Amino acid sequence: MPNAERLLIVDDDSSMRMALYESLSSCGYEVETAENGADALVKFKNGQFAGVVTDMRMPKMSGMDVLRGVKRISPATPVILITAYGTVNTAVEAMKEGASEFIMKPFSLDDLEFAVKNVLAANVQLKSDKDEAAAGNICPHKELITQDTKILALLDMLKSIAKSKSSVLIQGESGTGKELFARFVYRHSNRRQMPFVAVNCAAIPAQLLESEMFGYEKGAFTGADKGGKPGKFEIANKGTIFLDEIGDMPLHLQVKLLHAIQNRQIDRIGGISPIDVDVRIIAATNKDLDAMIKMKEFREDLYFRLNVIPLNIPPLRSRPGDTELLLNYALQKFTDLLNKSIEGFSGEAIELLMRYDWPGNVRELENVVEYAVNMETDSQISAGNLPDRVCRVDGGRFERSGGLKEKMDRYQKQLIGACLIDTGYSLEGKIRAAGILGISESTLYRRIRELGIVEK
Ligand SMILES: Nc1ncnc2c1ncn2[C@@H]1O[C@H](COP(=O)(O)OP(=O)(O)OP(=O)(O)O)[C@@H](O)[C@H]1O
Ligand SMILES: [Mg+2]
Repeated sequence: MPNAERLLIVDDDSSMRMALYESLSSCGYEVETAENGADALVKFKNGQFAGVVTDMRMPKMSGMDVLRGVKRISPATPVILITAYGTVNTAVEAMKEGASEFIMKPFSLDDLEFAVKNVLAANVQLKSDKDEAAAGNICPHKELITQDTKILALLDMLKSIAKSKSSVLIQGESGTGKELFARFVYRHSNRRQMPFVAVNCAAIPAQLLESEMFGYEKGAFTGADKGGKPGKFEIANKGTIFLDEIGDMPLHLQVKLLHAIQNRQIDRIGGISPIDVDVRIIAATNKDLDAMIKMKEFREDLYFRLNVIPLNIPPLRSRPGDTELLLNYALQKFTDLLNKSIEGFSGEAIELLMRYDWPGNVRELENVVEYAVNMETDSQISAGNLPDRVCRVDGGRFERSGGLKEKMDRYQKQLIGACLIDTGYSLEGKIRAAGILGISESTLYRRIRELGIVEK
């Protein structure tokens, strides 16, 4: 048998080791076993293995140590980790270190065989990908614009996990770019030559969602008499399915989805026998799934199946560098599109835009810039061209007259005045107000004088 089919199994539990051995041997692999990490690395160094399957939790050397050791000796050899439920952080950590796949306990031997087969096949594919990348055929993530260190680190992590088949769950506020991240994973995966099929669970009426996802047979229900129709899962076979707004999926479909993930099979509505499907699932939502689980609106078991690789996209307001970059990018885009000649934002406009908290994130930013470019007749976007909500300062309406200093003074006057009403104008009241505002007492006295705050 060629070396390409040789596997090394590492598990300290002898009955598990035997079960893995028997199962993989019966699939035609040549299997060698090791009962601890040290033994495994010696065997690995001396033998030619196509892949390694290791348990995560073992005394002395953990599965992570085995992974690192194998990668040091042979970075291209795929390593599959067997891990317990709920160890998501370790899973991400291991993906960064180059693990190819995770199998979550409890698992069936079928799951294992399937994972091994896929990982070995993907590794062959990877070699041809490298040639393709060298030829410049892999599309760079050109639409995802960022200079934020957190996001850049996230993208780096995604590049390494994209190759695995593990499910990805993307969570983040509306407009943070979840779909772009999903496509990024897809583009960096070995499945990028195969379909990327998106299903928006919120946009499709609940009664239709089931047939959209799983398809139906001829005559399954009234109106289904034109012949059967494949669902998105079948269409996405061998590729990736993007389940957008997964938090909006009704409970009965969550059950069906869980079933499809676990069995890698779907049932068309009215179908007689299940259909095999091989899809990578990327799900996204802006809902708080933890809260939904507590309310019994989202199934916890499904959550665990989807959340193998968790991806939390930070809101735009926590990424000031990106706000500035995206503002300029959007300005360029809309001036080109609307055929205008606008050179930039006024100081006052940029001040307001940077201070605004962007509840609708990048989508809102694009809308605001489009609006401003439409409104502008001059060579600069000024504060007067921005929508009212962006101009509000701490709840008060922005007045369009006056420069920045004047507005800041007015704002400070409001703020200090309100604080003093709260604490009172006595000596102790002023000491407390200075403390609350985070300024010295002498600064407080000076500002009261300069701003003409009248004691009431
Ligand atoms: N980093 C980014 N670079 C460039 N464009 C971005 C970025 N993030 C988001 N966008 C743009 O913002 C808009 C919203 O992105 P997207 O639809 O992916 O958001 P979402 O997180 O899926 O939102 P929702 O939860 O409302 O569906 C899109 O036009 C997208 O192209
Ligand atoms: Mg979306």
